Amino acid sequence: MKILVANLSGNMGKTTIVKHLLSPRMPDARIVILESINAGSDEIRSAIRLNADDEFGSLVDILAIEDELVVDLGSSESKDMIRKLKEYESAIHDFDLVIVPVVADPKAQEDTISTIMTLNALNLPKEKIRILFNKVPVHMAGKVGILFSQLIDAVQDMAVVDTNLVIFQFEIYNSLKGSMSTVTELAGDQTDWKSIARNSAISEPDRIDALQNNRNQKAAPTAMRNLDNVFDSLICV
Ligand SMILES: Nc1ncnc2c1ncn2[C@@H]1O[C@H](COP(=O)(O)OP(=O)(O)OP(=O)(O)O)[C@@H](O)[C@H]1O
Ligand SMILES: [Mg+2]
Repeated sequence: MKILVANLSGNMGKTTIVKHLLSPRMPDARIVILESINAGSDEIRSAIRLNADDEFGSLVDILAIEDELVVDLGSSESKDMIRKLKEYESAIHDFDLVIVPVVADPKAQEDTISTIMTLNALNLPKEKIRILFNKVPVHMAGKVGILFSQLIDAVQDMAVVDTNLVIFQFEIYNSLKGSMSTVTELAGDQTDWKSIARNSAISEPDRIDALQNNRNQKAAPTAMRNLDNVFDSLICV
């Protein structure tokens, strides 16, 4: 399976989704970050970084060679990527799925409508385009259709809209930003961080670190269950 995670707009959670949702569940996948600035690639193990302009040919090669691939299209590279996709028109069709994450604020929904229209103009079939509703507060779980109505009304003929594809807003994602650790790894972490934090012999910075790890360890199983459900829905739609 070859997956592109894209949105013309930034801060939708593309890198978070590649790092925590896709990469741990697709262990054989090559991970490519399209990003001119050094963001994201340093927190995803074995990811390679390309820019979408003069290294686009390398991406076409990787698409030809790999069976399993995840590409994170950084918003800074979106315009170059679209330009290149017009030049290498059929390259987009090598992807099995394009995941478009979106958050609920009106500007984000507006930008996401533009993104879907752009994908549609590249003749990508509706079935390949999946909206992923991100940063949804847990107490709003049943109200995704209302929260994102502006977007859903505009794109339902151009993309698959499945209101089960919801990633909840959890602090753990911010807490792990910049670190290589994933929710999946932390959910399996057996370290007794509580005891370490209570050890009077450790330094104050180490205690703060241990307490943070303890928090992440407590939060990871819930986040992981959410991600497991999303991944199942994504690949069986
Ligand atoms: N479900 C979530 N809950 C809480 N915070 C989240 C969630 N998803 C993403 N975030 C946070 O939102 C911010 C933006 O996420 P991320 O860096 O993944 O966006 P992006 O789409 O890759 O942005 P860019 O286009 O600039 O690369 C990060 O601080 C991340 O930790
Ligand atoms: Mg990113």
